[in-house]
Amino acid sequence: MKVTLAKTAGFCFGVDRAVSLTQKAADAGERTYTLGPIIHNRHVTDRFAALGVAEIDDPADVPQGATVVIRSHGVSRSVYEALASHGAKVIDATCPFVSRIHKLVSDAEARGRTAVIIGTKTHPEVCAIAGWCRDPQVFETAEDLENWLLADEQRRKMPLSVVFQTTSTQKLYNSCEKIAKKLCTNCEIFDTICEATEKRQSEAAEIAAACDAMIVIGDAKSSNTAKLAMICRENCGKVALVDSAADLDKSFFKDVSHLGITAGASTPAWIIKEVVNMSEEVKVETNESFEELLEQSIKTLNNGDKVTGI
Ligand code: F3S
Repeated sequence: MKVTLAKTAGFCFGVDRAVSLTQKAADAGERTYTLGPIIHNRHVTDRFAALGVAEIDDPADVPQGATVVIRSHGVSRSVYEALASHGAKVIDATCPFVSRIHKLVSDAEARGRTAVIIGTKTHPEVCAIAGWCRDPQVFETAEDLENWLLADEQRRKMPLSVVFQTTSTQKLYNSCEKIAKKLCTNCEIFDTICEATEKRQSEAAEIAAACDAMIVIGDAKSSNTAKLAMICRENCGKVALVDSAADLDKSFFKDVSHLGITAGASTPAWIIKEVVNMSEEVKVETNESFEELLEQSIKTLNNGDKVTGI
């Protein structure tokens, strides 16, 4: 069995930065809180919890003067205001690519334009972006955008500024761009898909198309991991989305001649290593030829050795 591990598997720049900043605060012995899980990976959040880093959802729950890490997804303008009113010491780990989107929508609003956000409505990154402008329109699919535009002619003439959740697929971007260009008269479109996401997705598609089985490692709650699994399923008939090596059964590797492995942006390197090691073990087992097994079973006998045979 041949094993191909994606070069882009694992932490992206933004996640790596958020994890390092949290680690630094924990190491400094500061009373540290994160607003929501620092990343969508329970192995990492469990490790921080053991170091005393507490998770809270509401900025109002931050004790006066405590240190608060804002995760890479970012938060809305009102959350910064609430944290400031609590005298919190803020460690801002918002990914710079996400901060750019905050600026784009707030500039759009200042210029009298309506922000259109393409992404998962309930995802924290999208909720935070929506919190940087007034009355944004949020759509999850190109069809939703098209239906909203077709429902009212005035909307097609409105000054619109379209941005995308950083983990959106290129396919979704292309469809939305096509619709907006066809229907709107005053629409600007910003490609805000993160390059790290694009590379990870295109590499995953390429590997999945060349393999007869694919393993995607990551938390199912992580948006980019779920999208990776979706892309792999479009290109390969046998895909497993696993949280860690413990989720894998060796039967998955049966009859697999070329295995591909990729991982979401919030999957730590040690989990990837475990899965790779497990695949390597299976590879060794399946690659052992009958001759090799026979060779191993024939032991040179020395005086005094005991032999049991059938
Ligand atoms: Fe930032 Fe891209 Fe990662 S937006 S958090 S570097 S996936």
